Amino acid sequence: MRRIYLSSFVLFAAAVVILLASAASAFPVDEPVANAKKGILLVAFGSSMPQGEEAINAVTEAVKAAYPGTEVRVSYTSRIIMRKIARESNKIIDEPAVALAKMAYEGFTDVVVLSTHIIPGAEYDDLKSVVDGFRVMSEHGPKAGFRNIALSRPLLSNSQDFERMAQAIVDTYPQKDKNSAVIFVGHGTHHFADAAYSALQMALWRKSPNFYIGTIEGMPSYDDVLARIKSSGAKNVTIAPAMLVAGDHANNDIAGDEDDSWKSMLVKEGYKVTPVLTGLGQNKAVQNLILDKLRESLGDDKQ
Ligand code: CO
Repeated sequence: MRRIYLSSFVLFAAAVVILLASAASAFPVDEPVANAKKGILLVAFGSSMPQGEEAINAVTEAVKAAYPGTEVRVSYTSRIIMRKIARESNKIIDEPAVALAKMAYEGFTDVVVLSTHIIPGAEYDDLKSVVDGFRVMSEHGPKAGFRNIALSRPLLSNSQDFERMAQAIVDTYPQKDKNSAVIFVGHGTHHFADAAYSALQMALWRKSPNFYIGTIEGMPSYDDVLARIKSSGAKNVTIAPAMLVAGDHANNDIAGDEDDSWKSMLVKEGYKVTPVLTGLGQNKAVQNLILDKLRESLGDDKQ
């Protein structure tokens, strides 16, 4: 009688433990948390130029330093760049869908996809669709997907971000006098997220009138910036990329020697132009912004 009482008590206790365990975590009971294999997949457009790669490496190192126990992998979205790198240096870089499939195959359970995009534009939308695909696969079981998959938000995705990015830019180029202007040139896009550049301009003007944002393919345009600089009376212009890397656009469209580069056009207008060839990825304050986006998507931000 006592033995029956005891064994049913043990069964009851075991059932309670299992129930509590499954209530406490969303993970299946047969997959204990102890088996978690966590990974971070950093995603960049990519660059085949050494200076460009330097900026991506700088961000990667900052992430590794912040999460020493977690494997960090790097993925590019530009197939043209990945093919060029494979051809020229035999180095294989995977696009996000391939990198994630490999991570699932290798048994990663919890993955954060770290976007290094500046604005939530078309590149970010594409990345989101890949992550959403893996999320759907994950819902059907861990075989093709993950137990948890998250995607961080781009650098300029809420009002605080504009403030922080503007501060990072102003701190990087302390304004000396009203004869000097600093132009940050972003990529720009047909996507409505192009509006982020104009918002960043407003955030910058709150801090200093001598900072300008322009874009290569969107708004504000070169003409928009030129008109403002003309009326400011500035004579000296520092010009820098508002892009993660100082790659092809920075070296050619912005600071190149061709007649149609921003540098050449500004020189022709009579300005003394100083080009800066470092990407935002090399800026410590911007790296911290990226790390905060990562913390936010991991759910361990302390804000
Ligand atoms: Co481009």
